[in-house]
Amino acid sequence: MTQKQYLSAIKKLKLYAHHYYVLDDAITSDEIYDKLYHEVLSFEEENPDSIALDSPTQRVGGAILDGFEKASHLTRMWSLEDIFNFEELQKWIEKSAKLTENMSFYCEPKYDGASLNLIYDKGSLVQAITRGDGSIGEDVTQNAKTIRSIALSIAYQERIEIRGEVVIFKENFEAINRERLDKGEAIFANPRNAAAGSLRQLDSTITASRNLVFLPYGIGENTLKEKLLHKRMDLIYALGFREPPMRFICKKASEIEAFYQKMVQERDNFDMMLDGMVIKIDSIESQEEMGYTVKNPRWAVAYKFPAVEKVTIVKDIILQVGRSGTVTPVAIVEPTHIEGVVVERASLHNFDEIERKDIRIGDSVIILRSGDVIPKIIKVLEYERDGSQKVTTRPLYCPVCKSELLDEGALIKCQNLECEARVVNAIIYFASKPCLNIDGLGEKIVETLHKEGLVRSVKDLFSLKLEQLLALEGFKEKKSKNLLKAIEDAKGCECWRFINALGIEHIGEVASKTLCDNFGLHVSNVNKEELIALDGFGEEMAESLMEFIRVNRELIGELQELINPKAPTEKEEVSENPFKSKTLVLTGSMSQSRGVIKAMLEEFGAKVSGSVSKKTDYLIYGEDAGSKYDKAVSLGVSVLSEDEMRKMLL
Ligand code: IVH
Repeated sequence: MTQKQYLSAIKKLKLYAHHYYVLDDAITSDEIYDKLYHEVLSFEEENPDSIALDSPTQRVGGAILDGFEKASHLTRMWSLEDIFNFEELQKWIEKSAKLTENMSFYCEPKYDGASLNLIYDKGSLVQAITRGDGSIGEDVTQNAKTIRSIALSIAYQERIEIRGEVVIFKENFEAINRERLDKGEAIFANPRNAAAGSLRQLDSTITASRNLVFLPYGIGENTLKEKLLHKRMDLIYALGFREPPMRFICKKASEIEAFYQKMVQERDNFDMMLDGMVIKIDSIESQEEMGYTVKNPRWAVAYKFPAVEKVTIVKDIILQVGRSGTVTPVAIVEPTHIEGVVVERASLHNFDEIERKDIRIGDSVIILRSGDVIPKIIKVLEYERDGSQKVTTRPLYCPVCKSELLDEGALIKCQNLECEARVVNAIIYFASKPCLNIDGLGEKIVETLHKEGLVRSVKDLFSLKLEQLLALEGFKEKKSKNLLKAIEDAKGCECWRFINALGIEHIGEVASKTLCDNFGLHVSNVNKEELIALDGFGEEMAESLMEFIRVNRELIGELQELINPKAPTEKEEVSENPFKSKTLVLTGSMSQSRGVIKAMLEEFGAKVSGSVSKKTDYLIYGEDAGSKYDKAVSLGVSVLSEDEMRKMLL
């Protein structure tokens, strides 16, 4: 094979693979493909310096990594707000209409997998990053290269981020689980976990063996000129990516609803798991105008699919002890497939609930699964009883530490502060993502550290020594050092994380942020009246916090000293200018996109709204201004050209 023949063979293999993995339409036989592949492989063995970067042989996986490097997305990866019914859809559309005009909607499936950001530059895949916290994820480039529907090179030279979902097709998911069962390995609970787990393998040959599929759904940083999202996506598909199995552009709520119903009906026929339909505003300019909330774009929404019900059998009722000592019963059920997920547990809430529903071990029950939440038992099929069913009684002793339980009706609590389950769960919570976010400090490690007597409370984490870790089974130097570094890095965290990590009952992430915004690091000195005055705080939350502070004042002080959380930064006061606190509306095309101009005006303290009303202070217009301009004039709202607006800011 000559160099020229080699390059043409690669081109051919890429074409075959594109048809097979992207277009689902094989144009050759396995035999022909394999023969050519082996010819390419032997050329490469003889000419290792001439291997093309996009040769299919580069997809088999590489060296086993010690861990993943962190990597930043070029632009943030957002989440989506969920809606569940037609009424919520109509509300979302009404809200959107206030922010932008000329709405048309782009609807496509919401895939249930793991999100991945691909960065291409000068036509080559340079980095693949998992979603992570939306700003920083893990670099899984080596693994991404093994996914055949991810192009290694594209015919587009400028830097672009292509976002999508990595999924496992239902058929492969079942095959993987069958294989795992045969080998005595734990099975994956659902295709999403299987996809995410396979994408985060340190050994990329395992990723390569899992038949992952990449389905693009969006674009991050880019220099594309197309003004409509669906045109931009067409361009992405044309670059060699898979198209969604269904998509639709429309203008009205009723059309969206009809398409949604169609998708619900057809979801079982798709290769991949879907958990809803995503609706996006098609115009990029409108998207920029609408902007984002803290977590989600205002221009897109996820219309979730309805929950699914199944019949199963309660095999056992076990008890779990949480970090606050609450003992929760959980039903272990006959493993049941619901929408590609193997359900093995159902939540029972508390013993009052078990008594109310009269749930017995051995009962046939209807369980309901909706989205991510643990399935619930909604009904007992009493007519299926044959007398062998057993009633469970309320527990008297803690299943973990055996101390006597306090039974308060709905709540049954273990009062022993040193109960292993309480301590371990409190530490796991302390280290979790929305708290101190200590990477690598998961359930297994916390259990080991506790069992070995190294960590008896969260404070002990900060005096762990390298020698102590190295003495534990399975702790090599790298893992131990990484863990100590992650603990050290947690120091100086944002103040709200610190408050959240304390695990105060009824005080979650949102409440912790509110507390931090209002009292900074002085939360221990607040009184109940101040708390109840806060947005979103009720009696129960205020009491829970006051009681926690009363009992743990000393501990909070010690932890604060150890962790040294950052005081929240003061919001900078905007200096005086003609637009400060004014309501503005932008219309027409301007020297920069309206999104950019909106962001600039917001920096000056203006509120930029999408529609003109009597309350509008100024309408700022660019070229080809239309109905908004006329409306402003008719309402007597002051109008300014873009130039006039800029001059006023000088
Ligand atoms: S759009 C800025 N479209 O769902 C818009 N997301 O809940 C951000 N997902 O993190 C996402 N299918 O991993 C979008 N067609 C689709 C999607 C999709 C699946 C995932 C994605 C995202 C999560 C948001």
